[in-house]
Amino acid sequence: MVDFAKDSLLQHGFLDIEVDPSLDLFGAIAELKKEKNAVILAHYYQEPDIQDIADYVGDSLGLARNAAKTEADIIVFAGVHFMAETAKILNPTKKVLIPDLKAGCSLSDSCPPELFSAFKQKHPDHIVVSYINCSAAIKALSDIICTSSNARAIVESLPKDQKIIFAPDKNLGAYINKVTGRDMVLWNGACMVHEIFSLEKITRLKARHPEAKMIAHPECEDAVLQVADFIGSTTELLKYAEHDKAQTFIVATESGILHKMIAAAPTKTFIAAPPDNACACNECPHMKRNTLEKIYLCLKYEQPEILMEETLRLAAKRPIDRMMEISLSAGLVH
Ligand code: 13P
Ligand code: SF4
Repeated sequence: MVDFAKDSLLQHGFLDIEVDPSLDLFGAIAELKKEKNAVILAHYYQEPDIQDIADYVGDSLGLARNAAKTEADIIVFAGVHFMAETAKILNPTKKVLIPDLKAGCSLSDSCPPELFSAFKQKHPDHIVVSYINCSAAIKALSDIICTSSNARAIVESLPKDQKIIFAPDKNLGAYINKVTGRDMVLWNGACMVHEIFSLEKITRLKARHPEAKMIAHPECEDAVLQVADFIGSTTELLKYAEHDKAQTFIVATESGILHKMIAAAPTKTFIAAPPDNACACNECPHMKRNTLEKIYLCLKYEQPEILMEETLRLAAKRPIDRMMEISLSAGLVH
């Protein structure tokens, strides 16, 4: 790698190279993809233009499955760092690129491996189920990974008397405890985006739109989940919004999902649930670090790349494989 690229990645997390503003980025990205046999995988929280140029847009489970089976030589992961890491864990022979190395995750950051390791030692008779929104180091300390699409099925697949630590999201963990009747020990982590919804503003919105259904991601706090008509992963929220007979939905998750909801049900009205600040909707600052320019540059220069030490990769892969096996036998994936 040239020195400039190294410095740029260290300083900014991305290649800080000026892109000619007259360049047709959509066309240039399509050409580079073809020339390099690359795919772009994007999460629903990416900005609309990125979702539109992606080969696959989905939730964490769908993205992990696609990353595992792609035949491309290069995977550009338009999401956050733990997602790109998961793609590398599942597909070590591919080059996995992330447009911005600093696209992190507050939830993943809320669970440092050294502290979690000490926490685990205090509960020696527990197994660890971790939400996929965690670092490779936390995955390596876990027995089974889950996503918001399969968390309930994963926990229900375990014997009722099995003692479990759930990490890192206390809100998802509390929700799964509630619906399964379990008593999992919860790591005290949370997502900054889903914790900031204002119950007061949502209540006012519901009063103004009494016909609307309120739908929420299980990373939200219990008080918000209690007033929801439906709770689910991003894919589940999208399917519900498309097929339910209601015409208006208040959506309590990152507002990027509205792009696909509007495309799936253009005659329906979608209102982003408001946060407890001056903004009208809730955006993930980490997800939104990715831009079309950064995707173009990372495809062109094949940087920044996700690299991982093989021992860590193998240790982190084991609980993901376990998740895939349980999802298959529960009929959640085919
Ligand atoms: P899912 O898309 O798997 O529901 O996850 C939501 C999320 O917060 C990803 O960062
Ligand atoms: Fe992490 Fe929350 Fe952003 Fe998802 S929305 S990447 S959990 S900070």
